[in-house]
Amino acid sequence: MAGKFTSSTQAIPNVSGVPRHIAIIMDGNGRWAKQRFMPRVAGHKRGVETVRAMVKSCIARGVDYLTLFAFSSENWRRPAEEVSFLMNLFIGALQGEIGKLHANGVRLKVIGDLSAFEPRLVALIREGEAKTANNSRLTLTIAANYGGRWDILQAMNQLALAHPEKAGRYGEADLAPHLAMAYAPEPDLFIRTGGEQRISNFLLWQLAYSELHFTATLWPDFDDAALDAAIGSYRRRERRFGRTSEQLGAQPIAVAPEPTLASPAADQDA
Ligand code: IPE
Ligand code: IPE
Ligand code: MG
Repeated sequence: MAGKFTSSTQAIPNVSGVPRHIAIIMDGNGRWAKQRFMPRVAGHKRGVETVRAMVKSCIARGVDYLTLFAFSSENWRRPAEEVSFLMNLFIGALQGEIGKLHANGVRLKVIGDLSAFEPRLVALIREGEAKTANNSRLTLTIAANYGGRWDILQAMNQLALAHPEKAGRYGEADLAPHLAMAYAPEPDLFIRTGGEQRISNFLLWQLAYSELHFTATLWPDFDDAALDAAIGSYRRRERRFGRTSEQLGAQPIAVAPEPTLASPAADQDA
């Protein structure tokens, strides 16, 4: 299957003033707490409030997909007490929020290698996803024990197992449906709070043509004004996808889609 959404490297996606998909690296919780002479974990706790607020704000602004990096595959390197606090915070947030998310029409998805999590957490994730599966107001994706390299490798391995006969001839459209976020269009806008200007192994494949916005605002301080500043900056970008500025007014030039294993023509975004 070629996937429901336009690949930014195979055809020109439709773009509008409201980013359809926003992906955020929620960074700066520890520093927020440190500034207040509080333990780092107090920043994580406060960060959950920002998540709650941003879900509401994205719904209000007509964003369809919000993806949040909650725990990277490298975050296991942190002190054991912090890791365990984060796991418990995740469990607590799922227990407390699923009902509200569901009531607000939010579909919950969790991407990442869940095999490392305790069974209780995995069960909560699966229950939450199942309960909200048919909601369509906003898709909220939490990336937990996620790594961009892990994602590409797990997709590659799935593809190789499914189609060993095509080894050596795999194309982009063969791999795409196996990526963890195949259910979503590529992020239009990437935001990283906390001042660092790096990707930290977040969505590597999917960010190919995303607009990047870095802000020094720490995640617990990120609010509607900060979100609007990010969206404002996004609106001022010229998304060329390889074309020249002069071409943008003209008819979009489609890149010839690769033939795929299951369907000969790549689908287009509606
Ligand atoms: C981001 O905040 C949250 C997670 C990585 C879980 P940090 O904990 O990285 O905060 P800083 O970067 O130390 O301030
Ligand atoms: C990235 O933040 C991961 C999450 C926000 C979950 P980090 O704070 O772990 O990133 P680095 O290590 O500073 O790059
Ligand atoms: Mg950090």
